[in-house]
Amino acid sequence: MSNKPAVVVTRCLPSAVTARLKQDYAPFLNEDDVGLNAEELVRRAAGCRAILCTPTEKMDAATIATLPEEVEILATFSVGFEHIDLEAATKRGLIVTNTPDVLTNATADVALLLILAAARRAYEGERLVRENNWVGWKPEFMLGTEVTGKRLGILGMGRIGEAVAKRARGFDMTIHYNKRQRLPADQEQGAIFHETPEDMLPYCDFLSIHCPATPETHHLINAERLAMMPDGAIVVNTARGTIVDDEALIDSLKSGKIAAAGLDVFEGEPNINPRYRDLPNTFLLPHIGSATIETRNAMGFKCLDNLDAYFKGNEPPDRLA
Ligand code: 8YV
Repeated sequence: MSNKPAVVVTRCLPSAVTARLKQDYAPFLNEDDVGLNAEELVRRAAGCRAILCTPTEKMDAATIATLPEEVEILATFSVGFEHIDLEAATKRGLIVTNTPDVLTNATADVALLLILAAARRAYEGERLVRENNWVGWKPEFMLGTEVTGKRLGILGMGRIGEAVAKRARGFDMTIHYNKRQRLPADQEQGAIFHETPEDMLPYCDFLSIHCPATPETHHLINAERLAMMPDGAIVVNTARGTIVDDEALIDSLKSGKIAAAGLDVFEGEPNINPRYRDLPNTFLLPHIGSATIETRNAMGFKCLDNLDAYFKGNEPPDRLA
């Protein structure tokens, strides 16, 4: 029997990551690549010292409580960790790690893609060309919203929020932000701090969402707060779908209060609110914020760096619990 630590891997990871995993661990792979339910995960974890999971596995208190005793560490292939009950993990003595930093740039790029695509009606334009319905040019054809020089509100100015601000400065946008604590001046780089989302929303020609999904941020962007935004504002979300009240956003998109939305994440994804599909003023992506070869490799390697540190008796660099 190998004395490499046994690891359950819940989804198919990039091949370079799997190759490194096989070198140093005895992995139990999920070749079918279908998310595992709690019962199946617990069954596969028997005899394993580690679990490498993704947000498709819900690691709630009940699941954590039934994990085999020999499981010591859970490394999630994600920066977000709302699928893991950290309190239950701490109580059980289960170490938990995530993958911060490495997906900052890829996700910020998608936020900019959504800002530009929503503002410039990319979905409508693409569809016209592809479906052969483009009849020609006229002065008032497909007019969108100018991005350059506008005000961008960043809800949650963490690593990704800051990377979005950096890119948006290239479009001469004025940056407003809301975060629990004000950034130091050198990090703020002229961005305007607002203590609450409500203070910031009236200044948001564009709103880009970057806060984590927590009970406090659930449906934070609701009808009342959307009404606080300037008429014709644009909403972009690359964080988590649960932060937006879909019915409220859809109603605002239909009335024109919100001119357009760019969304990479949805509540209940992939089963999104079907009303979004009928709205021409949306640009919808299937949660691809971190989906580049470079970033997905780096996320996998970060999971392995954390496992390596732990099994060498060191503190995992990205420990959450
Ligand atoms: C990932 C993400 O695609 O890491 C996160 O929290 O939201 C995404 O960018 C997803 O979690 C896959 O692991």
